[in-house]
Amino acid sequence: MFEEMPNPLLEIYPSVQDLEQLARDRVPHLSWEYLQSGTGDEHALDRNRKAFADVSLPPRVMRGKLQPDLSVSLFGKNYALPFGIAPVGLTGLMWPRAEYFLAATAKKYGIPYCLSTVATETPETIGPLVGEQGWFQLYPPVMKDVRADLLKRAADSGFHTLVMTADVPVPSRRERTKRAGLRMPPKTTFKMILDTLAHPKWAMGTIKNGTPRLRTIEKYTPEKSREAATAYVNQNLGGNLDWDYLKEVRDLWQGPVILKGVMHPEDALQAVASGVDGIVVSNHGGRQFDATPASLEVLPDIVSAVKGKTAILFDSGIRSGLDILKALHLGAEFVLLGRAFIYGVIAMEQKGSDHVVDILVDELKNNMMQLGRERL
Ligand SMILES: Cc1cc2nc3c(=O)[nH]c(=O)nc-3n(C[C@H](O)[C@H](O)[C@H](O)COP(=O)(O)O)c2cc1C
Repeated sequence: MFEEMPNPLLEIYPSVQDLEQLARDRVPHLSWEYLQSGTGDEHALDRNRKAFADVSLPPRVMRGKLQPDLSVSLFGKNYALPFGIAPVGLTGLMWPRAEYFLAATAKKYGIPYCLSTVATETPETIGPLVGEQGWFQLYPPVMKDVRADLLKRAADSGFHTLVMTADVPVPSRRERTKRAGLRMPPKTTFKMILDTLAHPKWAMGTIKNGTPRLRTIEKYTPEKSREAATAYVNQNLGGNLDWDYLKEVRDLWQGPVILKGVMHPEDALQAVASGVDGIVVSNHGGRQFDATPASLEVLPDIVSAVKGKTAILFDSGIRSGLDILKALHLGAEFVLLGRAFIYGVIAMEQKGSDHVVDILVDELKNNMMQLGRERL
């Protein structure tokens, strides 16, 4: 268990929403829109948040002195806390060196950090920094030699748990990011230059660290450019996933394999039949398909179908410790957060990323005591 220290920042920024507000003005418009966007009319994005508002938990009273224990066991490993950092791609577009801060937070608090295939840093760089807490997210390469190489690179760099993302059969249209100017090939406009100059800390960091690039993927492209890597991702990562592919990946990877993006009980059952160790009930933070239900809405049916047969993880829409308790109440065993951690990094770099954990821990403990519970 990490050593708990009083955090005076909890008085000033007591919630993730405070960090979100603080982050808003620290990055150019394009970076912010990339982080915040859903897809289509963003109904799925809204649904994810609203679903939490509709869950209530009846508190118990007269329980004496309570000492909440937040630890959980997952895949035979003890985690100090019931949450981890979800895979987020193009991380450096939102804040330079974001992966470094997230890895350090994961290591400090003993929570998993899942590095994305399309992060802006490589498994070779981040693996040694994240130590024991490294999970690797795979977007499924069409070419089997690339798949084998990516898995080997991740395992050799110390990542022990594999998360394969199932819910990107094709890149999302994500209209809001297009309106903000995210184009293929990338196009820099005069307005973007002015916007960058208006955010000097982001701009200086980006100059120092280099323009955000898909560094993991560059190994497989003839040219080392953002354009080449993005084109490669669109053509060669995804669009090919089926249950046989999952079984092959299961056989290739030594450690736990988790399928992320499961939203239907029958898919959950099929995932179990294909030998996964866990699933993430997730709609990708509302970024892929706008008619999807909220992840929280489908969680109970999936839990009824596969509870006890595989580990059930959850993400999409979590912004607080109380949200975590609600997801656990509905049957999740562990949760991931995407945007919340990026708000922290943008707001205050390392301090901000750590502060997200402190907020969640404080909220979890307080609300467990309000509920009259000591264990998750
Ligand atoms: C900016 C951004 C980039 C993301 N990139 C990836 C990715 O590369 N791979 C992946 O599996 N999921 C990706 N996701 C989805 C997250 O892993 C996670 O499912 C989602 O953020 C959870 O919702 P939340 O942001 O409300 O916590 C991304 C999400 C965001 C916000």
